[in-house]
Amino acid sequence: MMPPAVIKRFFNIFTNKSTSSVGDGTDRMNWHEDFIVELVKVMRPQLYVELGLYQCNLFNRIIPYADSLIGVDIDKEVENYMIKGPKTEFYHQSTDEFAEYLKNNPRSIDFLFIDADHSKEAVERDFKNFFPFVKSHGLILFHDTHPGDDSFKVSNYCGDGYRAIEKFSKSTDEYEMMTIPVHPGLTLCRKRKCQLRYEEERGN
Ligand SMILES: C[S@@+](CC[C@H](N)C(=O)[O-])C[C@H]1O[C@@H](n2cnc3c(N)ncnc32)[C@H](O)[C@@H]1O
Repeated sequence: MMPPAVIKRFFNIFTNKSTSSVGDGTDRMNWHEDFIVELVKVMRPQLYVELGLYQCNLFNRIIPYADSLIGVDIDKEVENYMIKGPKTEFYHQSTDEFAEYLKNNPRSIDFLFIDADHSKEAVERDFKNFFPFVKSHGLILFHDTHPGDDSFKVSNYCGDGYRAIEKFSKSTDEYEMMTIPVHPGLTLCRKRKCQLRYEEERGN
């Protein structure tokens, strides 16, 4: 069972009581940051990959809790915001280019955050391209998947990536998926064939 302190921290995220101690301006619009940091603290991924970094607000907060981190962004300026160190790698590429690179240089991803181009087509491509590199029972998160109303579906905000989630959610054989219906929305996906990781590893 989750310890009460962890449950309280998740509750605080939704009630707008940020637990961040870094004065990073986290607010209700960016509740995903606190949520993902808490989840990463629980999951402790060996490899965290974030597609689309903006100013690395989230990425930099993950550094203490992952063994290594890869950030990908089409905008070179992003590199200036990343806290550099032995754990972090920045790829100044489109997500499509980075997916091609992985085919020859495969990495095993524990925790993937898809938050780059928010169009339905791009979200579909990112999911399909990176899914093979995610470990069994690894997590894939998608941002901006529940725009608060129609006005947020524009391409420079949430876009129509939520439609990709609607489509993917219909399949359940290789993964399970759920969306937190709080604007701008966060979808959690677990790659799995069996409910229990250790049974899948044993080949049951
Ligand atoms: C919403 S912001 C990411 C926010 C960040 N994940 C966070 O939570 O703080 C989207 C980022 O994706 C990048 N981006 C957009 N399309 C991209 C693409 N096709 N490939 C790589 N990066 C892309 C943009 O340059 C921008 O920095």
